[in-house]
Amino acid sequence: MKKNWLWLLVNILAAVLFFAFIAQMISIGTLNGIAKQMTAEVGEWAGRWLILSLAVTPLLTVTRFKRLVTIRKSTGLWAFAYALLHLFSYSGRFDLNLQDALFDIFNHFEYWLGFVALVIMLPLALTSTNRAIKWLKKDWKRLHKGVYAVAVLVGLHVALVKEDYLVLIILLALLVARVPTLRQRLSKLKR
Ligand code: HEM
Repeated sequence: MKKNWLWLLVNILAAVLFFAFIAQMISIGTLNGIAKQMTAEVGEWAGRWLILSLAVTPLLTVTRFKRLVTIRKSTGLWAFAYALLHLFSYSGRFDLNLQDALFDIFNHFEYWLGFVALVIMLPLALTSTNRAIKWLKKDWKRLHKGVYAVAVLVGLHVALVKEDYLVLIILLALLVARVPTLRQRLSKLKR
C-alpha cells in the first residue's frame, strides 16, 4: 500500500521527537545529566512505539482501516531507534563507557531483560526491507516471530524497573489477540 497521511503523521511525530531528545541531550551537556533525565522518557517512547507496532494487526482486524498497515514497519523501526537512544542515554551514567555500562547491565536482571530484547530487535530491524523479505522468504516470517519474545522481555523489563505491570499487561494482551481463534472473534466485531 502507498504511503499516506497516517504514515506521514506518525513518521514526522517520531522523527521530530527523536531529534528533540537528541537536542535536549546535547543541551544538557553533562553525561550524568543525560542519563538521569532522559533514560526513562526515551524508554517510555520506545515502549509506546513497540505497543503501537504490535497493536496494528489487532486494530486492523477490528476496524478494517487498511491504512494502518503502512505504519506497522515504521513504528517497529522507531521502537528500535528509541531503544538504542535509551541505551545510549543509560550509558551516559558511565561517561558513555560501554564496557562499564554492559557490566552494570549484567549485574541488574531487569536491565538485562531489556538488553536481550534490544539484541533480538537488531536482526528484525536489519531485515525489514522489501529486499530482505524477498530474499528470506518463509524464514522472514519465522525470524520476525522474534517480536513476540521482544514484547515479553520488554514487558518484564518495565514491570521490574517500574514495579508497574500495565505495559506488561498491554503487551501480553496484544500477543493474545493474535491467537487465531481470538482473531476470528475480533474480526466478527466489525460485522
Ligand atoms: C538496551 C538495554 C536496556 C537498558 C540498559 C535499559 C535500562 C533502563 C533503565 C535504567 C530504566 C529506568 C529509567 C529510570 O527510571 O531512570 C528503564 C526503563 C524503561 N525502559 Fe529500558 N532499558 C533497555 C532496553 C529497553 C527496551 C528495548 C525498551 C523498549 C523497547 C525499554 C523500555 C523501557 C521503558 C518503557 C521504561 C520505563 C520508563 C518509565 O516510564 O519510567 N528498555 N530502562
